[in-house]
Amino acid sequence: MNRTYNCGILGLGSCLPEKVITNSDLEKMVDTSDEWITKRTGISERRILDEDIPTHKLGVEAAKKALADAGLKAEDLDLIIVTTETPDYLSPSMSCLIQSEIGATKAAAFDLNAACSGFIYGMSVANQFIKSGFYKYVLIIGCEGLSKVTDWKDRNTCVLFGDGAGAVLFGPVEEDYGIITTYTGAAGELGKNITIPCCFIGPQDIEVRTGENKRTLWMDGGEVFKFAVKIMEHAAKKVLEDSGLTMDDIKMIVPHQANIRILEGAAKRLNIPNDKVFSNLYKYGNISSASIPVGLDEAYREKIFSKGDSIILVGFGGGLTWGSAIIKWNK
Ligand SMILES: CC(C)(COP(=O)(O)OP(=O)(O)OC[C@H]1O[C@@H](n2cnc3c(N)ncnc32)[C@H](O)[C@@H]1OP(=O)(O)O)[C@@H](O)C(=O)NCCC(=O)NCCS
Repeated sequence: MNRTYNCGILGLGSCLPEKVITNSDLEKMVDTSDEWITKRTGISERRILDEDIPTHKLGVEAAKKALADAGLKAEDLDLIIVTTETPDYLSPSMSCLIQSEIGATKAAAFDLNAACSGFIYGMSVANQFIKSGFYKYVLIIGCEGLSKVTDWKDRNTCVLFGDGAGAVLFGPVEEDYGIITTYTGAAGELGKNITIPCCFIGPQDIEVRTGENKRTLWMDGGEVFKFAVKIMEHAAKKVLEDSGLTMDDIKMIVPHQANIRILEGAAKRLNIPNDKVFSNLYKYGNISSASIPVGLDEAYREKIFSKGDSIILVGFGGGLTWGSAIIKWNK
């Protein structure tokens, strides 16, 4: 039988734009208030990239930091996957742009779109390649520029999102460490609840709604909220069951950051205290597939995890999609 390898985290890095948009700034743009946004979402501010800077630049910086953290060179990479629902271009992909800018000459590269669940989907792909020994070093970069598809006149959505990138370098690690299990799922019939138009401009075969300028994000917030709380509970329980662990074995959940009330609702259903659920939502808002790697990077730098800690990652979002994983911290 062929040898299999354990896939774990070798390096992490993130990059957030410097420009901050506060709730008070938004009060001047739409009919809203700092009080409403803070109370209903938990968000105080978000980072926004200048309109004339392409989003993949954030991914380049995050990638360089993850490589430095791992002590590896760009030339060592076998594969780069950028998870994004906001690519700068459909072609070339973000992953090819980043591959070229960091000089990862040996790496294959492709983009993966599973919206806010993208990072978990990417991890599950990396896990298969590394476990089998087919690739050694796989870099996953969650890289998102939601500001570029935001309708800044729509108070229902413009207060929620931000820009950012988080990169995690996966590779072989010692036995019993790294990714224990992953779980991914989708409910395409619910797709109309979060829509961002792209190439197709013919008669719609699903109800794709848009913001004012026809290329912006539209969302039924209430429907997504209900889905998110239920799916976070389901996806976290599924990976616990698959790995034979219980919530007592888990140090922390690092979830996709969409709304503090979603995180608190899921914590309640899972019967765990709110402080067992990592959150940096107040300062970044929802950065789609970048939120889990950025959260992981911050928790790592704040030294929240020790070697051997088991951590649940859980995401949900457009598609609609979801994903979860358990990782035994190996750094
Ligand atoms: C969008 C969201 C914050 C709305 O919060 P909510 O508590 O569900 O809001 P409600 O539906 O109770 O209230 C909506 C009311 O607030 C108003 N409202 C919406 N945005 C507002 C804002 N920024 N400021 C003030 N009022 C606002 C609406 O116009 C509506 O008013 P109406 O009742 O007069 O029509 C919430 O549903 C949410 O976070 N959903 C999930 C979104 C998400 O996570 N998406 C991404 C998943 S990856």
